[in-house]
Amino acid sequence: MITKNIELAIQVLNEDNLVAIPTETVYGLAGNAFSESAVHQIFELKNRPLHNPLIVHIHSIDYLSKVAKEIPDKAYQLAKAFWPGPLTLVLNKKDTIPDVVSAQKNTVAVRVPNHPLLLELLANIDFPIAAPSANPFGSISPTSAMHVANYFGDELEIILDGGECEKGIESTIIGFDGEDPVLYRMGSISIEDIKKEIGDLQLITKNDINPEAPGMLSKHYAPKTKMYLTNHVHELIQNFNHQKIGVLLFEKNLSEQHIKHQEILSATGNLNEAAKNLYAAMHRLDHSNLDIIVAERLPDIGLGKTINDKLERASKKE
Ligand code: TXA
Ligand code: MG
Repeated sequence: MITKNIELAIQVLNEDNLVAIPTETVYGLAGNAFSESAVHQIFELKNRPLHNPLIVHIHSIDYLSKVAKEIPDKAYQLAKAFWPGPLTLVLNKKDTIPDVVSAQKNTVAVRVPNHPLLLELLANIDFPIAAPSANPFGSISPTSAMHVANYFGDELEIILDGGECEKGIESTIIGFDGEDPVLYRMGSISIEDIKKEIGDLQLITKNDINPEAPGMLSKHYAPKTKMYLTNHVHELIQNFNHQKIGVLLFEKNLSEQHIKHQEILSATGNLNEAAKNLYAAMHRLDHSNLDIIVAERLPDIGLGKTINDKLERASKKE
C-alpha cells in the first residue's frame, strides 16, 4: 500500500517487517538495523548477495557514536558539512550493528538522510534503519513511490510516499584508509564539492573482483532494454534504422523521425536537474517496449561525472 501514514510505517518497522521509505536520493527498502531478521528480509526481497553490505540511516550526527567508532576528524568534518544529506561515511563498526548489515566487514556505512518524512520517522523509533535502494539487485533505482510499487507490488505492506526524490541519484560514499578519505561511490554530492571541504581524496580503483563498495560493480543500475552510451548519438543511431530506438539526451532533441521515444534530462543544461530526472527517464524508456536505448554522455564535470558513471554501468554488457 502506498501511504503517507508515518504511524503505520513505524508500527510495521517495530514488528520487524519492511517498509519502503523516501529519501532525498532514491527510495530505500528499510528495516530495523539492529534486527537480524529484518535485515535478512531485506536481502531476500531484493535478491541481493549477502556479501554486499547495507547503509544504516540515523536521525542525527549525535547518534553516530552508537554505531561507529574511531571516527576520523575528516569524517566529522564531512558529516557536519553535508548532513542531513546525500553523504554516506564508511567507518569502523560498533558491535551494536549485526554482521549481516555490514556483510561481515568490520566497517559500517552510515548516513543522515535529508527528507522530512523520513527524519520524522527516525525521530520516533529507537533504532537506526538499514536501507538499500528499493529495487531488485542490479536494476534501476526508484525515485518515486510508484517505481517501488512496480517492483515490489504486494510484497511490501507499506510504501511511504514522500513524493519524487529531490536529488534522484544515490548518496556519495566516502571511506577511510587510516585518516585518509577514499571515494567509494560517486553520488549526488560532486567530487569537487567534497574536495572543497576536505582537500584531496583518493579515488578507489574500479575492481570487479574484490570491490570495496559493490556499488562499484561494473554492471549496475541497468534497464532490461539493451543500452548504449556514446558521445555521438546522431551517428550511432544510424546503425539501428530498422529498430525501435529510444534516446536519453542531455539538453537537445534529435530531429530524426524514426526515433520512437526521446527523453531530455535538462532542457536548460542543468546537471542537478539532469540527475534528478535520470532514473525516472530510464524507467520510462525501459517500459516503452523498445529494442534499444541510446544514451548521450554528459559533460564530465560535477554531477555530470556521477551521471556518466551510472550510465556506463547501466550500459555495460556484463
Ligand atoms: O542514497 C543512498 O545511499 C540510498 C538511500 C536509500 O539511502 N541507498 C543506497 O543503498 O544506495 P545501496 O544498498 O543501493 O548501496 C549501498 C552501497 C553499496 O554499494 C554497498 O556496497 C556500499 O554502499 N556499502 C555499504 N556498506 C559498506 C561498507 N561497510 N564498506 C564499503 N561499502 C559499503
Ligand atoms: Mg542500489
